[in-house]
Amino acid sequence: MMKPWLTKVILLAAMLIAGYDAGGISTAIADQDLGRALVRQHCTRCHVVADINPYGGIGSTPSFEAMKTLSDWRERFEIFYLLPPHPSVIRIDGISEERPENLPAFSHEILLTIDEHEAILSYVDGLEKK
Ligand code: HEC
Repeated sequence: MMKPWLTKVILLAAMLIAGYDAGGISTAIADQDLGRALVRQHCTRCHVVADINPYGGIGSTPSFEAMKTLSDWRERFEIFYLLPPHPSVIRIDGISEERPENLPAFSHEILLTIDEHEAILSYVDGLEKK
C-alpha cells in the first residue's frame, strides 16, 4: 500500500506537469504567431515563405519550405544570423557582436531579441517541407 503522503506528492507532481504542459502548448502557439509576424516583417524581404509571399523574395534566396527539406534545417536556423549574408543585416541582441563602427550598415539594421529568434524557430518548425 502506498503511503498517503507519497500519493499526494505524486498527484501534485502530475498536476504540475499537466499545468506546465498546457502552458507550454499555448506558449508554443503564441510563439508561432509572433514568429510568423517577425518572419513576414524581416525575412520575406529576401526569402519566399509559401503562406506569406509565395511570389515574392529574391530569386537567388532559398525559400523557407525548401530549406526545411534539409536534414539540418534547425541548425541552420539556429545560427542563420552568423551565416552570410545575414550578419550585415541582422543581429541578435546580446549574442551578435556590435557592428564595427567602420562598417556602415548599408540597409536598415534588424535587431532581434533571443525570444524573437526562438519564436522564429518555433514558426519554422511548424512549416511544411516543400
Ligand atoms: C538581405 C536578404 C536576406 C534577409 C533579410 C534574410 N535572408 Fe536568409 N538568406 C539570404 C540569402 C541570399 C541566403 C542564401 C545564402 C547562401 O546560399 O549562401 C539566405 C540563407 C538563409 C538560411 C540558410 C543559411 C545557410 O547557409 O544554410 C537561413 C536559415 C536563413 N537564410 C534564415 C533567415 C531568417 C530567419 C531571416 C529573417 C529573420 C532571413 N534569413 C533574412 C538572404 C536574406
